[in-house]
Amino acid sequence: MKIRDFLMEDWLISNRRKVKYNLGESGVADYYLHELLRMCNLDAGDLLKIRLEDELTYGSDFLRGEIARTYRNIDPGSVLVTTGTSEGIFILFNLLLKRGDEVVTGLPGFQSLYEVPRALGCRVKYIRLCGENEYLFDADDLKRLITGKTKLIIINNPHNPSGALLPEDTIKNIISIAKENNINIIFDEHYRFLPIDDGLRIRSACEIDDYAICTGSIVKCFGLMGLRVGWLVTNKPLLERCRSFKDYTTHTLSPLSDFLAAHALKARDTILSKNLRFIRKNHVLLTDFVARHSDTLSFIAPKAGVVSFIKYNHAMPSDEFAGRLIKKEGVFVLPGSSFEVGSHFRLGYGIKSEDFKPALDRLSRFLTEIK
Ligand SMILES: Cc1ncc(COP(=O)(O)O)c(C=O)c1O
Repeated sequence: MKIRDFLMEDWLISNRRKVKYNLGESGVADYYLHELLRMCNLDAGDLLKIRLEDELTYGSDFLRGEIARTYRNIDPGSVLVTTGTSEGIFILFNLLLKRGDEVVTGLPGFQSLYEVPRALGCRVKYIRLCGENEYLFDADDLKRLITGKTKLIIINNPHNPSGALLPEDTIKNIISIAKENNINIIFDEHYRFLPIDDGLRIRSACEIDDYAICTGSIVKCFGLMGLRVGWLVTNKPLLERCRSFKDYTTHTLSPLSDFLAAHALKARDTILSKNLRFIRKNHVLLTDFVARHSDTLSFIAPKAGVVSFIKYNHAMPSDEFAGRLIKKEGVFVLPGSSFEVGSHFRLGYGIKSEDFKPALDRLSRFLTEIK
């Protein structure tokens, strides 16, 4: 398999540990292990009892049960634990696609979602997502792109990099188009646990219709990136094929990650409400910030997750914009080029509010300077 470089990774690797303010990430600020243990009512002694054996390839019953409980009407037997969402989608693409097939997905989008199908020899057709359509995948556009060769529709909801959230009616509509045309459909729901509206619970597409194959993760929403725990939810025959494919990738998960992820999910109300408190505060700061700079910046305010995609009207390529901002102010945002889009940057607002405010102040100063 020949695959292009992952465009955002050079930026992340070069800057993540060096800059003063890292707004380039797409997750909630990471917790220390002692903080996680406290939130889960565990202590270090509980870790000493973990046996360092090979976990079940499916993930432990405890973890699968806790994942299933985050959905309504999904049983643990429909869940396969994977190493991040990345492994889940990689396995699914390998099993559902072959050379010459066509897939439809949105652009900009998380690169794996189109790069892996492309590397497998598929033709990828894109629905252009932008401010004008509020980054929403459109059912009529989808119908126009479908041919007899279309084998898979790939949707990321909530959306990275914009934070857009598809209305349930659109999800239903898209799933019925997929069904009518006998096309598989995957929803990558990495950011499902972080709605910006207080009181909103984001329903998974597989709760709406079990025809949808869904992937999920705790790494970004929970602030537990280092655990690398993701999953997929699908029908039993496909799940068994995925499990068998997984024998060739990571095979099993570390029992430490499995144990901690299961407990984190069990304590999800505590962890997520803590995260949502500061994310929602940052969201207000961010919306005010963009409004204050409306002469040069615009965006569609995110509805979920911790990333926003901001358009600027300075005559400067996005790599130069991001590079100069790092050099001048020690603030890292991801250039639009990482998503194959010019004049934009992705700004993550998952860092602690006490850091977010000074980071925005520095970004403000930079924007004034380059005017
Ligand atoms: C939409 C989307 N899908 C998949 C992934 C990969 O997830 P993981 O880090 O759990 O492998 C990411 C990571 O940022 C993402 O944003």
